[in-house]
Amino acid sequence: MASCTAPKGTFDILPTPATPAEEWKRSHLWSYLERVMVDLARTYAFCEIRTPIFEQASLFIRSVGETSDIVSKEMYTFQDKGNRALCLRPEGTAAVMRAFVQHQLQQHGTKHKFFYKGPFFRYDRPQAGRYRQFHQFGVEAIGEDTPQQDFEVISLLVEIYRQLGLGDLRLQLNTLGSHACRARYTKALLEFLTPHTDRLTPDSQRRLHANPLRILDSKDPNEQALLERAPRLIDVIDGASRQRFEALCSLLTKANLPFEVTPTLVRGLDYYNHVVFEVVSDQLGAQNALGGGGRYNGLLASFGGPDLPSVGFSLGIERTLIALLEARCCLPPPPAPLVSLIPLGPAAHTACFDLLYTLRRQGVCTELIDAKTVQKALQKAAKLNATFALVLGDHEIAKQTAQVKIMKTRETKEVAFGNLTSFFLNPPGA
Ligand code: HAM
Repeated sequence: MASCTAPKGTFDILPTPATPAEEWKRSHLWSYLERVMVDLARTYAFCEIRTPIFEQASLFIRSVGETSDIVSKEMYTFQDKGNRALCLRPEGTAAVMRAFVQHQLQQHGTKHKFFYKGPFFRYDRPQAGRYRQFHQFGVEAIGEDTPQQDFEVISLLVEIYRQLGLGDLRLQLNTLGSHACRARYTKALLEFLTPHTDRLTPDSQRRLHANPLRILDSKDPNEQALLERAPRLIDVIDGASRQRFEALCSLLTKANLPFEVTPTLVRGLDYYNHVVFEVVSDQLGAQNALGGGGRYNGLLASFGGPDLPSVGFSLGIERTLIALLEARCCLPPPPAPLVSLIPLGPAAHTACFDLLYTLRRQGVCTELIDAKTVQKALQKAAKLNATFALVLGDHEIAKQTAQVKIMKTRETKEVAFGNLTSFFLNPPGA
């Protein structure tokens, strides 16, 4: 049988990845990151929501936009046995909106704040920082249309990176204005670009009529030069939209959160209006966006729900971990059994087996080590990074005491059986 490997663009998250370059796939780092994010989101009073990994394909076509790259090129769509057109979710916002409408969550108050994490799927050319199954952590705040709400969401994103110790990041910010501003600007941009169609890349020529705003994202130097003369979004937005953007900017300035107003930032999903933002790292190469989001007033109503304004973000866990390792941020060591039990002989083996479950029940992380000699067992304990090794033989059983080796200092202490748990949980001198 041909050897089986994970599908292209996917990967396994393992306790011990094969190479240092795959360090970001270490499972304990994933648990750590998710814990930091979830704890922070809860501190900001967001509650968890979990939605299915597959949804009706139309959900994303309608909201993310038919002409967006996500829908036009990257969706994993399939027909199930009941002939339903389904897809693996490419993003979380539309799914949260769908769940909100389906369960009429507006009945539970005026403000609704959700966080989510999990796998998402986009069929794209895999490269460093871009995968076909990737993982996001995201939040959506529904019900408030204020700069303060925008600020809360952006400051949570920034705070996550601050707590993780990732300093060298840039927060980019732009406003798309209201739906009407966006439409007006799209028209102005189209009028400006049409006479220069032959100077555009094939990709941009395709976008010119489908979604001209996306041309602003172009990395092509010729296009970038052309776009310098293009009308600017910030110049066509109405007074009220400008004022709310300025109010957000002053909240960020007051809170000492540096940001860059980036007039070309439009983001690749159609549902945005007013503020859009991204956190980028200069250490990540081409896939430099760690996370991003924006306001998407009107989306909930477009699904038949109440017309509640909303704002949110999501960030990529893979890119965040890669950036953390690149920047040599302080990360927790792999978990190790705190106590390795080393039995000497059959009677000790039985005693250790009992002790193993007694200690575990009392919350002490414990592992039993089988080896031919004490020396080999101690080597195994060292490899497991154990804090203590408890060696038990007939003599110790008779005395009801154990020899506990403190692995770091190589000191040995005699501890009465009855005192073992407190010794391990509160070691003397710790
Ligand atoms: P997005 O910018 O498409 O936004 O994705 C958010 C983040 O997911 C990106 O910044 C990136 O870190 C990560 N990401 C996206 N695609 C890939 C990929 N193929 N491989 C690895 N990482 C990837 C959204 O998804 C919106 N739903 C965000 C949002 C929430 N807006 C409002 N609320």
